[in-house]
Amino acid sequence: MMLGLKLPTDPRWVNIAEKNIEEILTDHAFCEQKAASTAISLIVSFPEYPELIEAMIALVKEEMSHFKMVHDRILARGWKLGRDRKDEYVIKLVQFFPKGGSRTTQLVHRLLYAALIEARSCERFKLLSENIEDQELATFYRNLMKSEANHYTMFLGFARQYGNREEVDEKWQALLDYEAKIMKDLGTKETMHG
Ligand SMILES: [Fe+2]
Ligand SMILES: [Fe+2]
Repeated sequence: MMLGLKLPTDPRWVNIAEKNIEEILTDHAFCEQKAASTAISLIVSFPEYPELIEAMIALVKEEMSHFKMVHDRILARGWKLGRDRKDEYVIKLVQFFPKGGSRTTQLVHRLLYAALIEARSCERFKLLSENIEDQELATFYRNLMKSEANHYTMFLGFARQYGNREEVDEKWQALLDYEAKIMKDLGTKETMHG
């Protein structure tokens, strides 16, 4: 996978996640919901980019279908969706770029954040698909992994298309370095990015 991530997740995270499937599924469901919400908020903030709007419409549908898939699995196991919790990883991540700047700059920053969250989610899904004992979930995560990899490529592609290519690539590398630092303290909780 060409995700560019600078620090792989500690594989022991899967064992932590596996011990509390109910918790991980609830957290995962809300990751999908947040991905859909992000797509909607990009539509609201940047209506003047037709290609982006078209892609975000498709993405909202896809992420909500992922949300349903996770929700169905929660119900099938006799559970109910729990409450949403804070995603410390995302809270820290989105503090990287300074606030303000031109509309294009703001758009590029939001696209890069989205690309990175997709990339890390993809890496986590891959780890689950390869290491989780529950075979039904292993297959489930293998399929989702492919979708999230496409989303990562799409967001990074839009950032490069709308911003200055060189500047965007520099920012992307800097964000990857910063994300690796955040990840050093993570990998210990039964949440998707914990
Ligand atoms: Fe998704
Ligand atoms: Fe996604």
